[in-house]
Amino acid sequence: MHLFRKIVNRKLCSGVNLALSKDGSSLRTLCTSARRSTVMQAWVIDKYGNNSVLRFTKNAPFPIIHYPNEVIIKVHAAGLNPIDINMRGGYGAATMAMKRDPLHINQAGSEFPLILGREVSGEIMECGLDVPYFKPGDEVWAAISPWKQGSLAEFVVVSGNEVSHKPKSLSHLDAASLPYVAVTAWSAIVNTGGLNKNNSAKKRVLIIGGSGGVGTFAIQMLKSWGAHVTATCSQNAECLVRDLGADDVVDYTSGPVETKLKTLEKFDLILDNIGGDTERWAVGLLKPWCGSKYVTLVTPFLRNTDQLGLADGMMQTAVTIATKALKHITKGVHYRWGFFAPSGRALDDISEMVDEGKIRAVVEQCFPFTEVPQAFAKVEKGHARGKTIVTVAREQEE
Ligand SMILES: NC(=O)c1ccc[n+]([C@@H]2O[C@H](COP(=O)([O-])OP(=O)(O)OC[C@H]3O[C@@H](n4cnc5c(N)ncnc54)[C@H](OP(=O)(O)O)[C@@H]3O)[C@@H](O)[C@H]2O)c1
Repeated sequence: MHLFRKIVNRKLCSGVNLALSKDGSSLRTLCTSARRSTVMQAWVIDKYGNNSVLRFTKNAPFPIIHYPNEVIIKVHAAGLNPIDINMRGGYGAATMAMKRDPLHINQAGSEFPLILGREVSGEIMECGLDVPYFKPGDEVWAAISPWKQGSLAEFVVVSGNEVSHKPKSLSHLDAASLPYVAVTAWSAIVNTGGLNKNNSAKKRVLIIGGSGGVGTFAIQMLKSWGAHVTATCSQNAECLVRDLGADDVVDYTSGPVETKLKTLEKFDLILDNIGGDTERWAVGLLKPWCGSKYVTLVTPFLRNTDQLGLADGMMQTAVTIATKALKHITKGVHYRWGFFAPSGRALDDISEMVDEGKIRAVVEQCFPFTEVPQAFAKVEKGHARGKTIVTVAREQEE
């Protein structure tokens, strides 16, 4: 099957895509393609800053498959997240520079022009020769690692193992609202928090910050696995959060939220999407000595490396996490940091859940490709109720 796909790809396409190997020593044939253009439309930044650094161009370099496991996706819709706002301002630049592939850095050694956008729904346009699971024309979705070029462009290159067939029941617009928040929630709840579809029944989970991108997905996934879910949110988000399945909803805007939460039965898992002060009181809401876990998505890791440099920043991070984990384990609970982790396999499971009607997209607002700065401004204001989406290939949208 694998070989068959390679042969089919070769026959279908007329051009040949060559790339240098990572050490620059040899030229390899990685895929074949009928290249339509050498440039594409994209929103780029040429330096870090506020919204004014976003620049539309018709001349962004057309993405190239550098490795045989990569695919090029024609972007139909792109989802925005708080990380796009933060990265526009330079957040994580030191760590991203370390992770970024040398082949994705320009000749001057800079990451610019940089394309933001971590979520994509679209169709496969071209496959590397070691991508057996996709073929041109497949409708897919993916969460794109922050050290790669993003989805606010006509085309984007993604590793095949980070891509999944998009749910058939969703339009591209709706599908683009899920991949980044879904794999982040999956990584935090499943990989770090230890819950999954087989062991979540009747587990008590608290989601701090239930109304944003991560929260609206996490509530639905945990409910579909049979967990009892409590979520905190603003009073005017209560309807949304209940509608997504939350059993208990606590309004954090009307008095100290911890006082209300302390009146409830203790929790097996807390997913903290807010951070800051919440950590001080939230860990005390866990059942002690039962393997219960507090997982926060708001960590100082990237800020440490931005401010202190890689070596000192990582050292500081290690000391902080070790100190906190130790402090809390003596009280019988686990303290953990959660991180986005791209995973096509997790997206496959999530896609099934969506098509089974267990999870729906929560799109708050949608912007055309011409209005990317307005979309950034919307996300930057905060108070999200689900997701903000940019449609890129309008003619294909249903
Ligand atoms: N570590 C990682 O790899 C990773 C990955 C993804 C996301 N994150 C982080 O995770 C956090 C959540 O992401 P997101 O995409 O869900 O953000 P989001 O879409 O901006 O949602 C945040 C939500 O929290 C609500 N909120 C604000 N203050 C609150 C409080 N004190 N209590 C309860 N709710 C509150 C906001 O609405 P109101 O202000 O109207 O209440 C909003 O609905 C962000 O800080 C993001 O940077 C980290």
